[in-house]
Amino acid sequence: MGMWSLSLLQGCKGIQALGLDRYVCVGQTNLKSPQDIQVYVVNTNFTLRWKYTGNDTDVTFSAEYRWFEDFKIDGTEWKELPGCQNDTRTECDFSSAITEYYDKHHLRIRTERREEVSPWSSIFEMTPYDIAQIGPPGIELQSINGVIKIKVSPPEANQVQKMWIDDLSFKYNLVIWENSSNAEFRSQSIFPTDKIDDLAPDTTYCLKVQAIYALDSKEGLFSPIHCIRTTRKVRVPFCATNVRILALNMKFHLHWDNRYKQHVSYNVQYLSGYLKKLYDDYSVKWRNVPGCENITDTQCNFSSIITAVSGTFYFRVEAMNEYNKSCLSNEVKVIPLVTNEIGPPDIKVNISDGVLLHIQIYPSGGSESEVMRHNYDLSYRILYWKNSSNNEGFGGQLFNSPYRSTAEEPIENCSIIETIITEDLNQIDFKDYKPSKQSSRDSGNYSNDDDTSGSKASEETLEKEIV
Ligand SMILES: *[C@@H]1O[C@H](CO)[C@@H](O)[C@H](O)[C@H]1NC(C)=O
Ligand SMILES: *[C@@H]1O[C@H](CO)[C@@H](O)[C@H](O)[C@H]1NC(C)=O
Ligand SMILES: *[C@@H]1O[C@H](CO)[C@@H](O)[C@H](O)[C@H]1NC(C)=O
Ligand SMILES: *[C@@H]1O[C@H](CO)[C@@H](O)[C@H](O)[C@H]1NC(C)=O
Ligand SMILES: *[C@@H]1O[C@H](CO)[C@@H](O)[C@H](O)[C@H]1NC(C)=O
Ligand SMILES: *[C@@H]1O[C@H](CO)[C@@H](O)[C@H](O)[C@H]1NC(C)=O
Ligand SMILES: *[C@@H]1O[C@H](CO)[C@@H](O)[C@H](O)[C@H]1NC(C)=O
Ligand SMILES: *[C@@H]1O[C@H](CO)[C@@H](O)[C@H](O)[C@H]1NC(C)=O
Ligand SMILES: *[C@@H]1O[C@H](CO)[C@@H](O)[C@H](O)[C@H]1NC(C)=O
Ligand SMILES: *[C@@H]1O[C@H](CO)[C@@H](O)[C@H](O)[C@H]1NC(C)=O
Ligand SMILES: *[C@@H]1O[C@H](CO)[C@@H](O)[C@H](O)[C@H]1NC(C)=O
Repeated sequence: MGMWSLSLLQGCKGIQALGLDRYVCVGQTNLKSPQDIQVYVVNTNFTLRWKYTGNDTDVTFSAEYRWFEDFKIDGTEWKELPGCQNDTRTECDFSSAITEYYDKHHLRIRTERREEVSPWSSIFEMTPYDIAQIGPPGIELQSINGVIKIKVSPPEANQVQKMWIDDLSFKYNLVIWENSSNAEFRSQSIFPTDKIDDLAPDTTYCLKVQAIYALDSKEGLFSPIHCIRTTRKVRVPFCATNVRILALNMKFHLHWDNRYKQHVSYNVQYLSGYLKKLYDDYSVKWRNVPGCENITDTQCNFSSIITAVSGTFYFRVEAMNEYNKSCLSNEVKVIPLVTNEIGPPDIKVNISDGVLLHIQIYPSGGSESEVMRHNYDLSYRILYWKNSSNNEGFGGQLFNSPYRSTAEEPIENCSIIETIITEDLNQIDFKDYKPSKQSSRDSGNYSNDDDTSGSKASEETLEKEIV
């Protein structure tokens, strides 16, 4: 007899062990079916759990499964679910059975006692990838000189079967707190190799880490909690401190301080940000900034490093004292278009004909700053007011400059047409605005010679563009 007729004979169980191909039926079965079927998937570990509410003892449970390839309507035949046969507990591990993580699967389970079987449970349907949880990452900690160094390994490190095919898509979220009664939890994203600073010395901290799979923005399970005690930070007097960036119109400079009186020389070093996303040790990948090697000055022009506006860069200063002992500063991060500040435009104002106010705007960075024009969609806000003893009103207008990379003449012309606009001073947002102070006697609407339809940018647009 085949599978087909077996499924019709409910409450019966085939007995082949006796060599007799027959079925023993015990009429109406009293065995209750398992209920509340759940499947838990962590990485590629599959666990089936259920509840059994019957009062019979000596029961076991056996499950079957089938799957549907590539969204096909017809599934495979029901098959015994490996790992979930004759179970005496109410859970089983069937990880070995599942290899197709994107296909729909059906599972069902029944209760058995000797030759007696219960009806099948209701069918549990699942697509493994959809319900899979990301397992905890591995972590290694080291307490050194007041900081905690952390090394994270991806959730499925060293596993042959993987649910998450791209380890580089993982981001890691750290939660750290002081091991005290009134602990404050601090959460931050970390790189696979990172160090946690801003910690109190001689203090026990506890932490846990979860992985986040960026492709699906799925949050993983937290690692077990690890606790570690910080050490005291050794103060090195000649170290570069207060390392900061000054960036204006895509010209980048690093500045730092040093109160140490003896001879100190510096090497400024940089690291491309993507190297931090890898699992390899990037500590050997730092490079010197040309022109800022073995210098005694406390600043460095690193514009030559920012050859691409995408991506991020990290900078640090290595200080060396007269005995060739070295000390590394804190790192600072540069996101070119965000770190960079847009300088004020140059403007020329001409009211020679007495009716129209002519304003010429030369974009930030001067005419030679191609990079500024390529990368920022610049808009300008013109504020103008009547130069009276009580400046009761401002006029304000905003217009977009439709720069193209081909624009040879980096100039916008606009004429103020004689009309009075009075606006509340409060409505004008000076935040992020670097005014170029020019005043005129008249105020009024502007008109842009080119195209007024494209000139109505909102204040949000301006702020976004300026940020
Ligand atoms: C088990 O429950 C059934 C009804 O659900 C009842 O008929 C039977 O007597 C119970 N058996 C025991 C041993 O409690
Ligand atoms: C489960 O029990 C049946 C008999 O009840 C036996 O034939 C079968 O081999 C058992 N399966 C496993 C995996 O132990
Ligand atoms: C998955 O199962 C294997 C083998 O039982 C076990 O070693 C591993 O820790 C499990 N992983 C998770 C994330 O539960
Ligand atoms: C954390 O604090 C608790 C209570 O103060 C203490 O019992 C435990 O040993 C501490 N753990 C570590 C790792 O210091
Ligand atoms: C650094 O510069 C000093 C003098 O400015 C020089 O004596 C020294 O040899 C240089 N060191 C290196 C490693 O270039
Ligand atoms: C900084 O470096 C850039 C590129 O190397 C150069 O064009 C620029 O003139 C330098 N600026 C200063 C102030 O030295
Ligand atoms: C420091 O290093 C430089 C270059 O390597 C070397 O010429 C100099 O002798 C060293 N000075 C000391 C004090 O070791
Ligand atoms: C001012 O602009 C007008 C119109 O473009 C032009 O004719 C005039 O020559 C300009 N005057 C000055 C002083 O630039
Ligand atoms: C604005 O007005 C003040 C006083 O009324 C005067 O001293 C000043 O020169 C004026 N500024 C301009 C640019 O005309
Ligand atoms: C702006 O005006 C100047 C002279 O007034 C003219 O040479 C230039 O072509 C104008 N620019 C645009 C973009 O209209
Ligand atoms: C100036 O702006 C006001 C308010 O938007 C409008 O009512 C008026 O018609 C405009 N005048 C000109 C000349 O565009």
